[in-house]
Amino acid sequence: MNSVILAIESSCDETSAAVVVSGKILSNVIATQKVHEKFGGVVPELASRAHQKNIIPVVQQALNEAGVRKDRLSAIAFTQGPGLLGSLLVGVTFAKGFALARGIPLVSVHHMKAHILSHFINDPKPAFPFLCLTVSGGHTQIVVVRDYLDMEVIGETLDDAVGEAFDKAAKLLGLPYPGGPMIDKHAQKGNAESFTFPKTKVPGLNFSFSGIKTAFLYFLRNNKTANANFIEENFDDICASIQHILVQMLLDKLKLAAKQTGINEIAIAGGVSANSELQISLQQLATKKGWNLYIPKIEYCTDNAAMIAMAAHFKFIKQRLADMDTPALPRMKF
Ligand code: KG4
Ligand code: ZN
Repeated sequence: MNSVILAIESSCDETSAAVVVSGKILSNVIATQKVHEKFGGVVPELASRAHQKNIIPVVQQALNEAGVRKDRLSAIAFTQGPGLLGSLLVGVTFAKGFALARGIPLVSVHHMKAHILSHFINDPKPAFPFLCLTVSGGHTQIVVVRDYLDMEVIGETLDDAVGEAFDKAAKLLGLPYPGGPMIDKHAQKGNAESFTFPKTKVPGLNFSFSGIKTAFLYFLRNNKTANANFIEENFDDICASIQHILVQMLLDKLKLAAKQTGINEIAIAGGVSANSELQISLQQLATKKGWNLYIPKIEYCTDNAAMIAMAAHFKFIKQRLADMDTPALPRMKF
């Protein structure tokens, strides 16, 4: 039986819709909200308003690009959480209304699990069990993935996410939100050994990024006191140095997780997995350690509905459906 699923992603600042037919993605439309750039972070109320404005045209375009009519849909999927409540609500209520109107079932999806399942959109696909380092604006996790619907977090951040650390460092440097990609761009022209920062040590497989953020703040403040043009004169080197320490902190824990679990199928997912230094260093590490490494295509690293559609596909096969009582969950458990 062919399943035709429309999926909606609206957890943060991307309004996205995708269509998946029997596990194959036919469209993936993403409307990125530029409105947050000048605020240095996502403004929740502005995000909700932009989702409200974008959702119908984005869904329409996703259906058109896939060449799928509404009456062919088998189910509608949505991101249930985690994310911003107002943003999630736009997707959740749209999906419920759509499901009611068409008389089709709902599938609810966990945003972070969907990031991991983005690895099943294209070949090569990881074999079970694999480890996934999931690094986004809100999360930093190491997950053992035993099956499409069987995953366990074995390490996570105790405070800030690594994407948040990138964005906060960028903000201190005067860059617009989201700053991660801009730090990456400038870092490519800089020397990562110019400045050193202390690595925050946390036992086991957990992470902590709040200390490095504070260290970076004082580093900039102290150097600016000595030289008012310190940032401008050293911009690329500062970006390269802060990026380097953040990437090293991720790799240290991933190495430990691979050693402890004995798993050498290694994947990365989430917005920060687009980072070029992380990708290059991981490729080198994978060669050295004999890991099989999986990196999503760039459009599936950052938020998108194709990954929600893929996750929904696997739930739909098992008939794990949601009902009309299903709430949006900003702090949804893994
Ligand atoms: O997964 P994502 O799109 O949204 C969340 O679920 O949070 O991740 C967004 C995060 C932001 O913090 C952004 O700065 C970061 O991913 N990011 C990057 C890069 N591209 C996106 N960080 C570092 N280097 C990049 N190239
Ligand atoms: Zn995400």
